[in-house]
Amino acid sequence: MNAHKTLWIVLAMSMLGLMFFLSKPWADDKMEKAFRDSVIPNDFGPTTINVSHYPKKMQAYYKLFITRCSKCHTVARPINAQFLELTQKGEIIAKKEDPEIFKDTDVWKVSPTIWDHYVHKMMSKHGAVISKKEGREIYEFLVYDSKKRKTGMNSKEWEQERKRLLKNLKEITNGL
Ligand code: HEC
Repeated sequence: MNAHKTLWIVLAMSMLGLMFFLSKPWADDKMEKAFRDSVIPNDFGPTTINVSHYPKKMQAYYKLFITRCSKCHTVARPINAQFLELTQKGEIIAKKEDPEIFKDTDVWKVSPTIWDHYVHKMMSKHGAVISKKEGREIYEFLVYDSKKRKTGMNSKEWEQERKRLLKNLKEITNGL
């Protein structure tokens, strides 16, 4: 085989390889699926909370929350979550005084252990460095803050914001 011929073969094979590489639609499909499965509406909402009117202790816990819970995803994920933790007694009272918050679990997911469950789940994830004390403080903040922002006189505003995020995600992933 002369050098000329070898060169042509190498060139032709590279072209074939390139064509194969460029025509891998299944790779895009896979990426789109991974994207669709990994994004949640929460991620496109705000990444801060105005805590200026919260008690001093909660303001300190907020700072801890912002640093510890932004390592693997942004804090938008917990900030814009539908989760609302009420004690069983609190739930009975809310059913009378604030019945709105039980009508759509995509907007308010009420449970007596929901933040407890998620804080523990996050603490046990590979790469999480959150001490027991810190976990407790972040948990206290999340319970307090969710009640403040998602119930009572703020429930309407929360509902609008959460529904905006749900609609927004639908538009982003539309056609994927
Ligand atoms: C070590 C990485 C890591 C850290 C640190 C972390 N998370 Fe997560 N978080 C994840 C992963 C991965 C997911 C998606 C899968 C899942 O829900 O388990 C997630 C999902 C979430 C969700 C969405 C759950 C749902 O199903 O809607 C919330 C809320 C959340 N995290 C809150 C927090 C809070 C609060 C903290 C701080 C205490 C935190 N995360 C710290 C990795 C982490």
